[in-house]
Amino acid sequence: MKKVAPASPPASDDRNRDPQPPPNRGPQKSDFMPGPLALIAELTHRCPLHCVYCSNPLQMKPRTEELSTATWIDVFKQAANLGALQLDLTGGEPLARADLTELIAAARSAKLYTNLITSGIGLTPERFDALVRAGLDHIQISFQDSQAAQGDEFAGTTAHEKKLAIAAAIKKHRIGFTLNFVVHRGNLVRLEEMIALAENLGAQKVEIAHVQYYGWATENRAALLPTRLQLDRSLEIIQAAEARLRGRLRVDYVVPDYYARYPKACMGGWGRKLMLIDPSGEALPCHAARVIPNLHFENVTKRPLEWIWQESESFQKFRGEDWMQEPCRTCDRRTIDFGGCRCQALLLAGDAALTDPVCSLSPKHDLVTAITDRSNFPATHALASSSESTLVTPSWIYRPNPS
Ligand code: SF4
Ligand code: FES
Repeated sequence: MKKVAPASPPASDDRNRDPQPPPNRGPQKSDFMPGPLALIAELTHRCPLHCVYCSNPLQMKPRTEELSTATWIDVFKQAANLGALQLDLTGGEPLARADLTELIAAARSAKLYTNLITSGIGLTPERFDALVRAGLDHIQISFQDSQAAQGDEFAGTTAHEKKLAIAAAIKKHRIGFTLNFVVHRGNLVRLEEMIALAENLGAQKVEIAHVQYYGWATENRAALLPTRLQLDRSLEIIQAAEARLRGRLRVDYVVPDYYARYPKACMGGWGRKLMLIDPSGEALPCHAARVIPNLHFENVTKRPLEWIWQESESFQKFRGEDWMQEPCRTCDRRTIDFGGCRCQALLLAGDAALTDPVCSLSPKHDLVTAITDRSNFPATHALASSSESTLVTPSWIYRPNPS
């Protein structure tokens, strides 16, 4: 039987040591943390696609710095010993690693539920058979659009038809299958078509996620950010799809941070649930953490995973509530969203310890409304709400492929 990750980790038992905890006291820096629920392994930054919304860092790791097969396998064992239940294999494009079958077999031996997050480019039916035989539990294929011309435009290469072919092969296997669409100003007009594509390809789940503005996506933000009108229409479409497809296809929708009233609990809270290892072995609390200046990240080739999780400066930095400033410090939602995203606070307001400016309670929230106001400017509004199958701008900044 397949393992599934529980919705939340076991509660800290530290309340027993604190005779009079303040109301809503969340875990503090010094508390023992249960291990991560999942390990996110960025096996490589190499990728045949050049997506305009890629959240990989601007400085990517070259092939020469990638961890060896043996080191990854050791990291998987350590993660399982630490309590992790799930392994997400991602990148870049994880299929660029020739040892992927071996890595999945090792993850299965370590009793990790293994999820492959891929563009599908580089996957043949034969290779997919081998991955399933090695123990792959779930595959998530990303599509850039429902239409080939637009999808290939956003991917910066010819990919859509190849994805369709491999998705048809996946359908024949009894394996968890999710289709993922990253949505934005340029493709939201085809949201209904995207959901229909997931239905036709036999996926069990379709994940519709708005662009997160980190890495390469930040470079293209003006062209990607949807209008309020687009967002409202997309919510109507999602609600109708959920009702129509209940019991057949699960529809997961991730709303865009910039239009939300409150932020999401980024990564389930800093250093609380997830641990990410980059291609060179650097352990990060989130995929964008390197944007935060003066924060030292440990490497799995130098330190045990358990020490990094429990003791390292980077994982402790924004764990718990000690670091919080007002309004988060006394806000009732601080144990729900943990003050939002540290990287977004840094990127938008220049200080990772501030309340995430996407929060409507943040004193810096006007930084976000200034951005969304520009996106809703009448001229762009007309373009983005058009039912024409139109490409928004020819001046994308494409993610390059590292050496
Ligand atoms: Fe969350 Fe802080 Fe906003 Fe409260 S003030 S909702 S804790 S980000
Ligand atoms: Fe770094 Fe949200 S991406 S904390």
